[in-house]
Amino acid sequence: MPRPMRRPIIAGNWKMHLGRVDEALAFVRQIRYQLNAIDGVDKILCPPFTVLAAVADAIRPTHIGLGAQTMHWEDQGAYTGEISPAMLAQVCQYVILGHSERRTGRVALPDLVDGADQADGTETRFEGDIAVNHKVHAALKHGLTPIICVGENLAQNEAGGTHAYVGDQVRTALSGLTPGQAETCIIAYEPLWAIGTGKAATPADANRVIGVTIRGAIGDVFGETTARQVRVQYGGSINVENIAAFMRMPEVDGALVGGASLRPAFVQLVQRAASAA
Ligand code: PGA
Repeated sequence: MPRPMRRPIIAGNWKMHLGRVDEALAFVRQIRYQLNAIDGVDKILCPPFTVLAAVADAIRPTHIGLGAQTMHWEDQGAYTGEISPAMLAQVCQYVILGHSERRTGRVALPDLVDGADQADGTETRFEGDIAVNHKVHAALKHGLTPIICVGENLAQNEAGGTHAYVGDQVRTALSGLTPGQAETCIIAYEPLWAIGTGKAATPADANRVIGVTIRGAIGDVFGETTARQVRVQYGGSINVENIAAFMRMPEVDGALVGGASLRPAFVQLVQRAASAA
């Protein structure tokens, strides 16, 4: 079944890579015109903060969109190290929110810590569901399109908890929006066990979670029309070989791509996505 209302969207999440201006520009200059020439899909790059402005300049002659990887919800304030939606809105059109690599609680520094020293060797990150909801509102207020990541971990998946958990994540993230605002959001279904593991979900499973769980949750709150309009990506070990199978799924509107967005073959990946959509 075609998806006439929803334009597919492929976003490259560079994570903490290509953050030097010289390497980012070398890469972007290599791919920008080929990427831009691909019709039928929106193309977005999400580099680290340090190169957002440089990449924005480099893609100015194209229709490629630019996104950041996180942000605070306040416009300004005493938040050392944070970046605000007002700051990002100068250079970006998109922002990834609630990526699982930022939602996770305490992260140990593996080589430095053993047992008793854990308290000193952990870093705490908080991007919980409520914070994500604040960030979604803040992004929309500043004209940024949020790419909201949701997804279950392996234990939840194996225990049959995906539907309840992911549904709650979606409802909380979108809470308080108008249907019109919700329609403009992008959701990325990224099962944690599929991220960076080379073990993607099956296209059929992704299609079912997106169609039944995610659109179901949107529909509960905002109604069926809104649920059919929100673009929902799949993310987790997407590559040149598997992208087409995901794009053929009627509920999957694109992909959030990590590792495979760091190489020139990202162009082929997007071409295959466009042909299969
Ligand atoms: P991956 O990452 O494509 O490297 O699995 C996806 C993501 O984390 O967005």
